[in-house]
Amino acid sequence: MAILVTGGAGYIGSHTVLTLLERGDDVVVIDNLSNASRTSLDRVAELTGREPTVYIADILDKEALRTIFSRHNITDVIHFAGLKSVSESVKEPLAYYENNVTGTLVLLHEMLAAGVNHFIFSSSATVYGNPESVPLNEQARTGGTTNPYGTSKYMVEQILADFSHAQPDFRITCLRYFNPVGAHPSGRIGEDPNGIPNNLVPYISQVAIGKLETVSVFGNDYPTPDGTGVRDYIHVMDLATGHLAALDSQDKGAAFKVFNLGTGIGYSVLNLIEAFEKAAQTQIPYQFVARRPGDIAECWSDPSLARTELGWQATHNLDDMMRDTWNWQKNNPNGYRM
Ligand code: NAD
Ligand code: UFG
Repeated sequence: MAILVTGGAGYIGSHTVLTLLERGDDVVVIDNLSNASRTSLDRVAELTGREPTVYIADILDKEALRTIFSRHNITDVIHFAGLKSVSESVKEPLAYYENNVTGTLVLLHEMLAAGVNHFIFSSSATVYGNPESVPLNEQARTGGTTNPYGTSKYMVEQILADFSHAQPDFRITCLRYFNPVGAHPSGRIGEDPNGIPNNLVPYISQVAIGKLETVSVFGNDYPTPDGTGVRDYIHVMDLATGHLAALDSQDKGAAFKVFNLGTGIGYSVLNLIEAFEKAAQTQIPYQFVARRPGDIAECWSDPSLARTELGWQATHNLDDMMRDTWNWQKNNPNGYRM
């Protein structure tokens, strides 16, 4: 019996593969390495003393999926593979719909053909669009997404809900991640963005290591306590255990389920800079600049449904997140590139 992890060489995937291997699960990974390095999985093997079976292939490739399902006794699929840059999705919408929507359809077809019916999907807080109020629980209005990336996640959730009606034997869980940050405490695996990071925490950590000069804080005139954007940052190791909890509870309750994975606490951009300064024992230069188009003022979760139904909650605080991010960054200044 094995768990198929699509996108398992990526940031959240590699931490989840590690956590699965550590508890004794057998893992098969499919990843086309479009946004990852094979080294992440070599390091997972080094940390756990166990090897996942790895296929360097695309989820759009039916034959590759067919081979995997025929060779391994797959019981569950955790589906991370996809493209995730908001700004890139505006420039390349077709690539985003193809990878994120068509890729999921191809995978579901092959699961049906192979008789594999447990599915966990990487969704995102982005499906809530511009929140009417915070904290957001799973009943909050979805849609109103403002970019192809967000729309692709929203569309896949809709497809999965329809598919679940048609295939009641399928167990489907959508996990809506808030803002994943941090790294494995060993500092051996972590987030390795291509080029100049779009996201706040990788940007701050590259300023801390001296690769970038100053953090541009996008707006200080939001209706938030210090005027900067507020988000619910969650440690990637907490996300990993959230996936295990979701796997373990798939046969309980409804056939189609949705959970927020967040901490329930909102922090501002300035809170993050301050916490990072403490972790790295250095000053982070920053300047206020205009708001980034498409950004929302604040977004944080009500994570209580995952607590009551999955028995899961985040255990890492902001200091833990910044400590582990810095530990990864300082030990791997060029990410997985030597
Ligand atoms: P990532 O880019 O590090 O991981 C995605 C992995 O999928 C990469 O290893 C990439 O090479 C692989 N991949 C992409 N397209 C593929 C394809 N067609 N076939 C095979 N492999 C393919 O991203 P991540 O941060 O680990 O995110 C994982 C998932 O979680 C994504 O679906 C993302 O949209 C979602 N998510 C991420 C965040 C975030 O901020 N990191 C927030 C919410 C949701
Ligand atoms: N920010 C800055 N400077 C930067 C980068 C970000 O001030 O250089 C601010 C943003 O304005 C925002 C906060 O830091 O207030 C967090 O920004 P991120 O880009 O790190 O994260 P977002 O909340 O914008 O985006 C995340 C995911 C997306 C997802 C979105 C909505 O990265 O994939 O949440 O759920 F679509």
